Amino acid sequence: MALSKTELPYNHNVVDGLIVPVFVTQTRVDDIKQKLSLSAGDVVIASYQKSGTTWLQHIVKLLRNDGKEDGKVIPRAIPWLEMDASDADSPYYRQIESMARPIYVKSHMPYELIFGVPPHSTQAKYIYIARNPKDVAVSYFHHMLAFTAFDFSGSWDEFFDLYLAGRVPFGSWFDHVLGWWKYRDAKNVLFLKYEDFITNLSEGVQKIAGFIFGNVPQPSVIDEVVKQCSFDSMKANPTANFSWAQEFRHPDQAPFMRRGKVGDWRNYFSAEQNAVFDVLYAEKMKDSRLDFEF
Ligand code: PPS
Repeated sequence: MALSKTELPYNHNVVDGLIVPVFVTQTRVDDIKQKLSLSAGDVVIASYQKSGTTWLQHIVKLLRNDGKEDGKVIPRAIPWLEMDASDADSPYYRQIESMARPIYVKSHMPYELIFGVPPHSTQAKYIYIARNPKDVAVSYFHHMLAFTAFDFSGSWDEFFDLYLAGRVPFGSWFDHVLGWWKYRDAKNVLFLKYEDFITNLSEGVQKIAGFIFGNVPQPSVIDEVVKQCSFDSMKANPTANFSWAQEFRHPDQAPFMRRGKVGDWRNYFSAEQNAVFDVLYAEKMKDSRLDFEF
């Protein structure tokens, strides 16, 4: 089910009441709820879109391989759980029933909608990455212009209004981030921030290793992962830079590995948009004690 193009100016689906990309289907989401039971050793990487998910996936992929690049593109190493890729040749294709254990997946779904039960009621580990919502907005704008599936050609101002209203795929940033933040103290949840990776990636990598494996690898392995996970290394690496998805992107739009910075929003938000967003942010975040570097 979807809204008409006049109601929402891009291609999408609606699943369990949530706006999602066209390749996320009700069938797939129902299948996940009915057929996937997570157990000890399974790891879910979760995020609102454009928050550093691919960065986190690449870190986890390398940590599983002692810092070595195994040549597998990211979606083959850590697939996108709710993506309904029916073509068996697609790097995104994964049958829920036959996923190898331990399961390593990424998801952009709000917690309640994807698993239906709180994290501490499963044995799996969940790593959530959040990024300040202004930089997410700018990255998301370029994402929707670039991926042909959305068929979106709106202006920044149009996108800003959609984003402010939570009328973008996966809904409101506030609902998503605060929905996961609620579980931040569960012992099987690690809540991370993109901006902290920018400040000290080595510390982030060590935290992730300790959380997943219970111990931190040799400093040489950490150093290797950090080296391979710099923006420039990932941009140059065909397993990490989305070159596998070239046929689904407009070549004249910004590349997936676009800027990788904190504060790019200043180049897009007008003073008025910024003031409106700040009011919403203050209201939505006031009880959370969660803050971000902008
Ligand atoms: S997606 O499509 O939702 O999975 O996107 P996601 O991977 O969550 O976010 C993409 C943004 O993360 C940036 N990125 C990085 N920044 C810094 N360092 C590294 N290594 C890195 N890897 C990915 C990527 O450039 C996107 O942000 P923008 O602001 O658009 O550059």
